[in-house]
Amino acid sequence: MTSTLDARRTLTVALGERSYPIHIGPGLLDDARRLRPYLAGRQVMIVTNETLAPLYLERLKAGLDDDLTVREVVLPDGESTKTLASVERIWDALLEAGFNRRCTLVALGGGVIGDMTGYAAACYQRGVAFVQLPTTLLSQVDSSVGGKTGVNHPRGKNMIGAFWQPRAVLIDTDTLATLPARELSAGLAEVIKYGLIRDADFLAWLEANMAALRGLDAATLTQAIERSCRLKAEIVAEDETEQGVRALLNLGHTFGHAIETHQGYGRWLHGEAVGVGMLLAAELSQRLGWLSQDEVARTRAVLAAAALPLAAPGDMTPEDFLAIMRLDKKNLDERLRLILLRRLGDACLYDETPSETLMTLLETFPRR
Ligand code: NAD
Ligand code: GLY
Repeated sequence: MTSTLDARRTLTVALGERSYPIHIGPGLLDDARRLRPYLAGRQVMIVTNETLAPLYLERLKAGLDDDLTVREVVLPDGESTKTLASVERIWDALLEAGFNRRCTLVALGGGVIGDMTGYAAACYQRGVAFVQLPTTLLSQVDSSVGGKTGVNHPRGKNMIGAFWQPRAVLIDTDTLATLPARELSAGLAEVIKYGLIRDADFLAWLEANMAALRGLDAATLTQAIERSCRLKAEIVAEDETEQGVRALLNLGHTFGHAIETHQGYGRWLHGEAVGVGMLLAAELSQRLGWLSQDEVARTRAVLAAAALPLAAPGDMTPEDFLAIMRLDKKNLDERLRLILLRRLGDACLYDETPSETLMTLLETFPRR
């Protein structure tokens, strides 16, 4: 029989002096002493939200050593709260507590809390330490790793932000037990993304194991999280600030961000929008002669098996898509740059999509 400790894994994000570990396994939240080596001093500010505080905050605090000064900020829940105003609340709490440059912020939550906490840490007194305790599948496989932090602007997703790496990522896989099924599916979109962009074997493994993942089988989930984090850690180590290969992690995101921005933050989950975006990217790749029909069908089927939407919002015209996509951060010199698939498991950045091809795709793609 496997013990809890045997089930734990550690990976490293190799960034020289700023390298940090990703610990993965059950029960990590109840083992908060593990945080100690990553604290810059004795001041700890936990940032979480109104959904997670009743579930996990006291458990986390109970495990922290008595000599620490621990404070908390509990923000409202939701993508629509991922704003500069929420980050200001974190800064207010830090100043009110009299916390100095040796304080550490601890993000207890999904990608929204993680992105905002990281940004608050990047700016507070020109940069303080932070640790990620991600509690959604999406944040465990993607957003907690790699140091992209920030907030949304009414005109565009994640338009205000900074690269600021955490000191450690502690992934307690037990937290997924309380995650709503729709949120689990949204996380699976980012897991599928790794298979599509870089690892065809992993994609085949996901096709075979999707039912176990949706059924919260602990060992299968841990395997998926570990492989995803390994792929992300490799990419971040190669290209921390997205000068090249890291852009591939944005497969489906240009279309997806357009959906999120157009629909109003929070109506579509980020992972749901990315899932539809990946299907659009696969179909576009087929129209450019790269993917076969069979490969597009496999992409659609694996997204369907993860219970992700396969159609775009009914009230979104091709012009709506294009107007928002033109603001995408990847674009250079006004050229639309998209991540597309040469094959399953092999992505590329492409800026020569003929506008008629893109327009026809957006006109004919299913709506719901
Ligand atoms: P989220 O943070 O909004 O969490 C989803 C919902 O689940 C929330 O209502 C949250 O309160 C709840 N929740 C979280 N953990 C729970 C648990 N264990 N039990 C019960 N409920 C729980 O959304 P998300 O999907 O985690 O993250 C999406 C955000 O991440 C987006 O803003 C996206 O832009 C960002 N993101 C960032 C990166 C990056 O590299 N920084 C990468 C991908 C996505
Ligand atoms: N989620 C995209 C990135 O971290 O680069």
